[in-house]
Amino acid sequence: MCGIFGCVSKKGNVAPLIHAALKRLEYRGYDSVGEATIHEGKIQIKKDQGKIDDVHRMLNLDDLSGSIGVGHTRWATHGAPRPLGLPSWTNAHPHTDCNSEIAVVHNGIIDNFLELKAELENLGHEFRSKTDTEVIPHLIEENLKKGATVVEAVRDTVKRLDGSYAIAVLTSHVPERIICARNESPLVLGIGEEAVYCASDIPAFLPLTNKTVILENGELAVIQADRYEIRKIDDWKRVLREPEVIEWTAEMAEKQGYPHFMLKEIHEQPTCLRNTLRPQDLYLDLIATFLDRAGEVFLVAAGTSYHSCLAASYMFSDLAFLATHPVIASEFVEQQGMAVNINSTILAVSQSGETSDTLAAVDHARNHAATILGLTNVVGSTLTRVSRVYTVQQSGPEIGVAATKTFTSQLSVLAQLALRVAKLRGKVGHRQIEELEEKITQIPDIVEKTIERNDERAQRIAKKYKDSKVFFFLGRGISSATALEGRLKLMEIAYVPSIAYPAGESKHGPISLVEPGFPVVFICPRDETHKTIIGNIMEMKARGASIISVIEEGDEDIKNLSDEYFEVPGRLPEPLTPIAFVAPLQLLAYYTAVQRGCNPDMPRNLAKSVTVK
Ligand code: F6R
Repeated sequence: MCGIFGCVSKKGNVAPLIHAALKRLEYRGYDSVGEATIHEGKIQIKKDQGKIDDVHRMLNLDDLSGSIGVGHTRWATHGAPRPLGLPSWTNAHPHTDCNSEIAVVHNGIIDNFLELKAELENLGHEFRSKTDTEVIPHLIEENLKKGATVVEAVRDTVKRLDGSYAIAVLTSHVPERIICARNESPLVLGIGEEAVYCASDIPAFLPLTNKTVILENGELAVIQADRYEIRKIDDWKRVLREPEVIEWTAEMAEKQGYPHFMLKEIHEQPTCLRNTLRPQDLYLDLIATFLDRAGEVFLVAAGTSYHSCLAASYMFSDLAFLATHPVIASEFVEQQGMAVNINSTILAVSQSGETSDTLAAVDHARNHAATILGLTNVVGSTLTRVSRVYTVQQSGPEIGVAATKTFTSQLSVLAQLALRVAKLRGKVGHRQIEELEEKITQIPDIVEKTIERNDERAQRIAKKYKDSKVFFFLGRGISSATALEGRLKLMEIAYVPSIAYPAGESKHGPISLVEPGFPVVFICPRDETHKTIIGNIMEMKARGASIISVIEEGDEDIKNLSDEYFEVPGRLPEPLTPIAFVAPLQLLAYYTAVQRGCNPDMPRNLAKSVTVK
């Protein structure tokens, strides 16, 4: 996980700029932070464990001179953020060689670091940290001793690394250059008028430039204040790649007056949903054709994206009569691995396009000759490169760790795909298809009204139930995916233990938990499951549960049975209901987190892109 940043500028001190860039990358991890610059030919470093603001208060991260530097915000993998018996800064990046002439920031995991470390220790290198990263500066040092130039020394170093990395190397040997390289972990360059940047992700430099060059796996780049050069690590061939202009504005990556990114992103959903409707016909049609012709279809994803897949399995069945298997990415190889073959099609869904579990499943499927299709939010992400065809969900950067706008955008794209498959199969009448298409275009407005109408109510309900020990989320049909997502949001940001089930399952076990006052959230669109869910509500009421329902506006039957309710304006066909019905649950989770004093943007132990297995 981790965020890395590097900057070579024609003038001025870059430390404040690195600090600001790291703040924009903080969603990638926040266990420790560090910066290094070169001043008067020497590397200077400030780093410690803790969140950026706390470390800045202690060390003043802006107070480093030099027009070249690197920075890092960490999600710990090897080496605890606060190592026992060692100084608190020990495992924070940047890490250096024995002479403190080479400083490295790294995102990823070096699988063979133990053997490399043993080899280097035998050669007399002294290690200060418990990280895998520290082998990198020592290997570079060793290669320099053998007479390599700095760039060759970095190239020969990364050739010895097994695992994933995006690195930026700063060295007093060439104080006007940063050398960066990537394998599996993301790395992008930003090309400014007076500076060149490298970073884990585009928002890091977005206020500085919107011109970007995406590095591919196995590439190394040397950046200077006015140029960049990219080469293939393997054969050292020069790669000529012009910058692309990114349409995300710096403003889009900021909070725009909301107290948290998560709330801002919940409110951005209508806009994002409108973006999903902008024609990507070619790609959607291609993907639909592959799905239609597939022997079997696996929908593979993790976390919230898995919930999109689960909902999509109902959409594909309902609209296109297409059976699909939604599979949790980390289980894919064990659960379906042997069943995958040349006739299989994998639709991998990943907001970041970098989730390790999802990429591992895709990798397995590719090795079994399956067709890989991708849905992601990040152009240039690994998923886009390994997919035969991919489409983007157009949500813009999502900074809050909990997925909100990217979930509903995924659902909108998946619903459009299901409709396209339905058309190909000719099993649904034109009239019905047209009605559904019309409904999809109305969703942004419906979601906008849903958010407006339920915001205050969510604040009040959150206050009322904030101290509940457990929450239940129940739905039937496609709403069981909505229930799972509502539960994940509440659990991950407000730390309230929660359970979600298809409502019909609750009587097979979970109902034994229910005590008087126990909050049970029912997701109740007025669809075919409506009558049955009333029965499930009665079961819960009979045991003294407090019923919180999400209903269609004017659903007096369920309103009268509920202690609290959220209303969704407008009638939606069943396959589209999760897109609107999840919004009140996102608000409920957000306000519960705030009421409980939790920071919804940075839930503990979590990070935005999970790039480890
Ligand atoms: C939950 C959340 C995670 C992600 C999961 C997959 O709010 O954000 O569960 O959905 O880590 O991430 P992507 O979609 O980037 O593959």
